[in-house]
Amino acid sequence: MLTHSAQRILVLSTLVLAAACDEDVDAESPALEPGDPDFERDPALDVENVSAADETRSHNAGLNCMRCHQALGPGVGQFTVAGTIYGPDGEPASDAMLELRTAPAGGGELVASVEADAYGNVFSTEPLPLPEQPLFVRLESSGGVLAAAMPFPISSGACNHCHAGGFKVRLQAADDGGE
Ligand code: HEC
Ligand code: HEC
Repeated sequence: MLTHSAQRILVLSTLVLAAACDEDVDAESPALEPGDPDFERDPALDVENVSAADETRSHNAGLNCMRCHQALGPGVGQFTVAGTIYGPDGEPASDAMLELRTAPAGGGELVASVEADAYGNVFSTEPLPLPEQPLFVRLESSGGVLAAAMPFPISSGACNHCHAGGFKVRLQAADDGGE
């Protein structure tokens, strides 16, 4: 058993240690997560950022780009549409082309078309009518040999928010229901 005074010293030193730790946390407040309502985005980040064939500027293939490339995030450019396109073999489709249209199956008006970069990433900061006007996704690659389309329109351009894990955006042989 500890004596009464030894117990007091233990309690006191624990309190002093705890106070010192608190100060450390205050001095170096941790960076806010993207999406935190208090996140302060540097206005200099609000630049145009659109993917183009063969470019290697992007990163994070397969992740939800809009987690960071948004009004409360640190990404360069606020994306209106962004995602990653894979070929039938599961490899990034670096020659894919994304179309957003007002009607399914390649019909209606073409609202935007974006080329994938070398990592199969497509992204754009171009203003889009989403979410007020839902749009239809159509993809094509290898001169039309590979294609894919979403059966219903999207109201969010954050492809990888839904297409995560094993549920990738995949191209397939064009006569295989891709149109
Ligand atoms: C975890 C946060 C985060 C995610 C997720 C993220 N980015 Fe970024 N992105 C950043 C930051 C921060 C920068 C600037 C610093 C850098 O280049 O790493 C950046 C820079 C970029 C750039 C370079 C812009 C320039 O200056 O040329 C591109 C392109 C880009 N991101 C595309 C994407 C794409 C496409 C995705 C999704 C597949 C994505 N990012 C996912 C945070 C993110
Ligand atoms: C809100 C969630 C969501 C968003 C955002 C979304 N998708 Fe989808 N997508 C789905 C679901 C669910 C299916 C499966 C539909 C079915 O098979 O009935 C699907 C199916 C597809 C398909 C056809 C199936 C396949 O993989 O061959 C393609 C292609 C596709 N999405 C591409 C995209 C692209 C590109 C984007 C971004 C521009 C996007 N999706 C955004 C949920 C989403």
